[in-house]
Amino acid sequence: MSSVLHRTINRRALLMRSAGIAAAASLPHAVRAATNSIKELNLAAVAGRVPIVGEAYPATDVWCYGDQVPGPEIRVRQGQPIRVVVRNDLPEDTTVHWHGIRLPNAMDGVPGLTQPPIKPGKQFTYEFTPPDAGTFWYHPHADSLQQLGRGLAGALIVEEPEPVPVDRDMLWMLADWRLTSDAQIARGFGNAMEAAMSGRVGNTVTLNGRVSEQEPVRAGERVRLRLVNGALARIMALRFEGHRPMAVAIDGQPCEPHEPPAGRLLLGPAMRVDLMLDMQGEPGRRYRVIDDFYDGLSYWLTELAYDERPPVRPRPPDTALSLPRNPLPEPDLASAERHELRLQGGMMGGGAMMGMGGMMGMGHGASWAINGTSMTGDGHAGMPPLLTLQRGRSVVLTMRNESAWWHPMHLHGMSFRVLTRNGASVPYRQWADTVLVPPKETVDVAFVADNPGDWMLHCHVTDHQVSGMMTVLRVA
Ligand code: C2O
Ligand code: CU
Repeated sequence: MSSVLHRTINRRALLMRSAGIAAAASLPHAVRAATNSIKELNLAAVAGRVPIVGEAYPATDVWCYGDQVPGPEIRVRQGQPIRVVVRNDLPEDTTVHWHGIRLPNAMDGVPGLTQPPIKPGKQFTYEFTPPDAGTFWYHPHADSLQQLGRGLAGALIVEEPEPVPVDRDMLWMLADWRLTSDAQIARGFGNAMEAAMSGRVGNTVTLNGRVSEQEPVRAGERVRLRLVNGALARIMALRFEGHRPMAVAIDGQPCEPHEPPAGRLLLGPAMRVDLMLDMQGEPGRRYRVIDDFYDGLSYWLTELAYDERPPVRPRPPDTALSLPRNPLPEPDLASAERHELRLQGGMMGGGAMMGMGGMMGMGHGASWAINGTSMTGDGHAGMPPLLTLQRGRSVVLTMRNESAWWHPMHLHGMSFRVLTRNGASVPYRQWADTVLVPPKETVDVAFVADNPGDWMLHCHVTDHQVSGMMTVLRVA
């Protein structure tokens, strides 16, 4: 409509220029050229060798996208179409699932259910237009335990039309590996005992594909930190020593900016949080980022390492922290249809299985069930839907965790509002595509069933998913 020409300013050049000026207190706001031309790229799933633990160890044999761990950071503009040609150079079938993106069902990457798997040596073209800005990720949905566990994952970042005013936009793609003493991936994917407990939790956590000793920062800068938990099973609870991070988006969807309760950020597998982090530490000092989710197993993920330079600005900028909302349909709770999903199964600690009443014999190697039925594996043809929803209906799902274990429950194809936990309303207008349900707790979520197709709903502890905690919702 407008004839005004927008200048594109190279963001990095701008930052370097302003860094030289001690008094530069305002945040850069570059103007992006409006372009909705299609973004095209190739992605090959291959076997590779990557030094994830560091120089003192041999490189690790991995499976990865395009020779790197994590896979390439894909950036696309909100509303910009993207076409990705995925080539399978692995010795087995694969697919790519674009986790959290509201896309057409045929592009969702579930083998059997939404597409035939990509055979070795073959390729498949994914094409979609992300409607929401935010932090998303991609991973295989075939032989997930092994393929994700061997390193196949990458971030998909959808940029806001107007750049968010921050000094730096940082991504921490987190992954968890079970390595042997010579830094190779330990065998034993799909151990039945583990599957009935917390899943395959590893012994090495990486940040952007490497064990991280430190991440360099500068005093006074404001960073947008995108956290992605790409682990198979590890739940994280992150604390930033000496800092007050503000959560501004959950699973890509903006929320009211808030500090995580007690400064402890819970991040289950597949969950993402965008933080605004004002670097209020002292020049030259280091501050730990600690994960203390598991009792007695706390470790530090990395350190924020301040360089010696004086603060970029005397105090944090007063620019608003909130991100622009995405075009999500608001569920109508008054007219919504309501369904309960009971999450069942698993070990109780004494070796006994629980809540298995109706699920015996329903799936091969099943340890888990939803409402008495176990769907196992990664997706296959002819999965009968648990629920069929009228297109456009508002739906409230009550997820009741009857088990003794945590479950990050993920719905494909649609994002949901997180309404209540154990009946108490959840503050800060939180949307998500993956919600962490603690043992014996109940979470209510709501969404508009506006995306037609068969959509998976499963636990993102991968061992739980493949051993039965999975179902399908059909939007007719
Ligand atoms: Cu990341 Cu079926 O999920
Ligand atoms: Cu689970």
